[in-house]
Parts: sequence; structure tokens; C-alpha cells
Amino acid sequence: MKTALGTILITEQEIRRRIAELGRQISNDYLKTPVTLVGILRGSFVFLADLIRAISLETPVEVDFMSVSSYGDATTTSGTVHIEKDLGISVGGKDVIIVEDIVDTGLTLFHVYNILLGRGARSLRVAALLEKPGKSKYNRPIDYLGFKIPNKFVVGFGLDYAQRYRNLPDIRVLDEI
Ligand code: IMP
Ligand code: MG
Repeated sequence: MKTALGTILITEQEIRRRIAELGRQISNDYLKTPVTLVGILRGSFVFLADLIRAISLETPVEVDFMSVSSYGDATTTSGTVHIEKDLGISVGGKDVIIVEDIVDTGLTLFHVYNILLGRGARSLRVAALLEKPGKSKYNRPIDYLGFKIPNKFVVGFGLDYAQRYRNLPDIRVLDEI
């Protein structure tokens, strides 16, 4: 498939403003309460890097990453998941925010949520930069959502197409040409 960068869907400035707001919300919700950010690799690293700096120093923040691949499956609704890289820390008894780049089918989030719940996280919330409409298997609202976007393939700000375009500073639609 030949592709080309399309129009800018969300500008750098819009992203910066929204992340500042999400950081303020998290700082209020976790005032003087330690929180553990769990970034889902690889797409979330840019969002997480900005989000963590938007959280007040009154909130002690710990961060770690995990990488999973989920496969949809015709016979079950949830598919299966493979942990490619696990956390180095324990989440038992901790207040955790999962940080995801984009929620599409919601399968990745569904699995990570259940894994961390199973490991005894005391509370679990989700921050996602982007959400596509409708079909999410993760059937709770996203606690800290950047933007709802239309059902198009997007790149930039950490999101890739075949590992490219993660370094774009804004979010763009990828067009087939
Ligand atoms: P889900 O499990 O279907 O919600 O998909 C989650 C993962 O698929 C995201 O973390 C992204 O890595 C990838 N993904 C889904 N939609 C897009 C997109 O429009 N652009 C780039 N990556 C995407
Ligand atoms: Mg991802």
C-alpha cells in the first residue's frame, strides 16, 4: 500500500493545551497521592513524556512501561494477549494510571487493565491521547482522554505506520495514494 501524509487533524498547540489540562486534572485527583503511570509501548512514549511533566510535583509519580500484542479472534470476543515486555515494578496496592496512545478496538487496553487488576492494583484509571468511535472492547469511559477522533488511520506524536512518523509533532491522517 502506498501512503502519504494527509492533513493535520490535531495541531501541536492543541495537543499541548489538552495535555496541560489532563495534567491539572490528574494533579487534582492525586493530590499528595503517589501514582504509578504504566505506559503501553511503543506509541504512548511521547504522550507520556509530556503528560508526566504536566503533573504537579505535589503528586509523587512513578513510571514504567509494558508492551503487549493482542490478537482479535473470531471465536471469542476478547482475543488473546501476549506480554512482549513486562513491568519491572510491582503494581500491588498502588494507584495506577494506564497510559495509551490510542484506543481503537480497545483490546490492548482491555487486556492490560485485566492484567494489572489481577496483580492487585488498588485503583486503575486510563489516560489515552486519542479514542476512535464505537467499537471498543474496553467498555468503561476513558478517565483522562485527549481527543475523540474519526475512524481514520492517524500518525504522529508517537503513533506510527510501519514504525514511521512517530517523530511528527502533530497528529495527521495517513492517506492511501
Ligand atoms: P486496539 O487494541 O485496537 O485499541 O489498538 C491499540 C493499538 O493499535 C494502539 O495502541 C496503536 O498502537 C494501534 N493503532 C490503532 N489505531 C491506530 C492508528 O490510527 N494509528 C496508529 N496506530 C494505531
Ligand atoms: Mg499502542
